[in-house]
Amino acid sequence: MSELKPKKVRTSSLSEFKLAGHKFACLTSYDALTASIFDEAGIEVILVGDSAADNALGYSTTLPVTLDEMIPFGRAVAAAAKRSLVVVDLPFGSYEESPSKALQSAIRVMKETGAAAVKLEGGTRSAATIEFLVQSGIPVMAHIGFTPQSVHSLGGFKIQGKGESSEQLLEDALAVQQAGAFSVVLELVPAELAERVSKRLSIPTIGIGAGSGTDGQILVWTDFAGLSSQPKRKFVRRYADLRATLLDAAQKYREDVANSSFPSEEEQF
Ligand code: KIV
Repeated sequence: MSELKPKKVRTSSLSEFKLAGHKFACLTSYDALTASIFDEAGIEVILVGDSAADNALGYSTTLPVTLDEMIPFGRAVAAAAKRSLVVVDLPFGSYEESPSKALQSAIRVMKETGAAAVKLEGGTRSAATIEFLVQSGIPVMAHIGFTPQSVHSLGGFKIQGKGESSEQLLEDALAVQQAGAFSVVLELVPAELAERVSKRLSIPTIGIGAGSGTDGQILVWTDFAGLSSQPKRKFVRRYADLRATLLDAAQKYREDVANSSFPSEEEQF
């Protein structure tokens, strides 16, 4: 395993990581405080995912979140992250209609957040849009396999690329690479296929539920930190139990207020 530590992670750094065999880590974030912690920890990519929909805004899927809602999250994360590469998701409805609609949305993201790149979902179906954005000077991270914005047309939260559909997944990967994407997220893909795709592509792959053969890994931060109340999914590893920690802290604080032990003499003027 090789380690590379550029002063500032750029889209080109991810290709250098791939060439050097340095596996890189990505997390989502939707606010300045967690972004500054992940940046300090050396996390290479921070994605302002449209998973903000369920993790920050309380929606049940990523479909309702709008560009207007995503922009303040992007601005907060980009302001806090000094070294990590910050990528912002184009939300559902902000890019599918036409490449020019996608460009308008991506320009808003780039101008109003300070992020370095956008991410959008879809393989061959999004290739023309990716090409148009890239030719307009906007770096694009692609996202194939299970694409949460298509949860209803995919029939729910399902592994993609099994059996015969593995060829379609490879085609999608090649299409986004050909269109100029600088990297591609592979979500919920059998490990063997994700590894095959990663070896076949020259751009870096970033896996979530795609095994260990991808060039980088990404987790949703509330899953990785154990903040979510949802049952842990198979591909998630919890690195902390923040939900239990915060629950315990909030219960203690409530008791301290109720029995007048907070604030103490030292905690008042
Ligand atoms: O929005 C998000 O968090 C994502 C990751 C799951 C890759 O797209």
